Amino acid sequence: MNNVGILISGRGSNFRALSDAIEAGRIPARISLVLSNRASAAGLELARERNYPTVCIPSKGLGRDAYSRLLAREFKSAQVDLVCLAGFMRILGPELVKQYPLRILNIHPSLLPAFTGLHAQRQALEWGAKVTGCTVHFVDEELDHGAIILQHPVPVEDGDSEESLSSRILVHEHQIYPEALKLVCQNRVRVEGRRVRIMPE
Ligand code: GRF
Repeated sequence: MNNVGILISGRGSNFRALSDAIEAGRIPARISLVLSNRASAAGLELARERNYPTVCIPSKGLGRDAYSRLLAREFKSAQVDLVCLAGFMRILGPELVKQYPLRILNIHPSLLPAFTGLHAQRQALEWGAKVTGCTVHFVDEELDHGAIILQHPVPVEDGDSEESLSSRILVHEHQIYPEALKLVCQNRVRVEGRRVRIMPE
């Protein structure tokens, strides 16, 4: 059984989707830690309601490496062996990433490698992309860069605003993130360079 740590900074809707799938028995994992860098994160409230071990480690004023050392300590004490970034607004330091090779997942609201970084949906609109979407990928030392596990396309519509596009993408985020976590937990993901192969059940 994998011990999953989920890192959030805000709303926590992806955390909710992961939690729903785990509690429904669809993913062989248990949530051993929900960590936020913001005390006001709505997702923290949900985590408490669901009786998960929660911790808030404020990141303000701390450099990437110092903050990552605090995270590593929490991961160890909660015996986390797999990490899901779910709207976590801090970048993990390279030392921490190295400690969890192919064991840290992230969800990003674009079809990577397009539109990395913040406001990916706005970037897609401003670029005039006809199709965008979402990506679950392994985290490596570079931002929004590691090997891609799953993606889902979403067409951009003429009347789209950042909000309307974001909410259509979000529906698919909530599907592919639990699916990707399941594949990893079932040990069905083979990584060859940048390419990820999904093994049959
Ligand atoms: C999602 O759009 C996710 O792709 C991005 O941050 C947002 C987090 O939303 N990384 P939520 O907190 O999971 O609702």
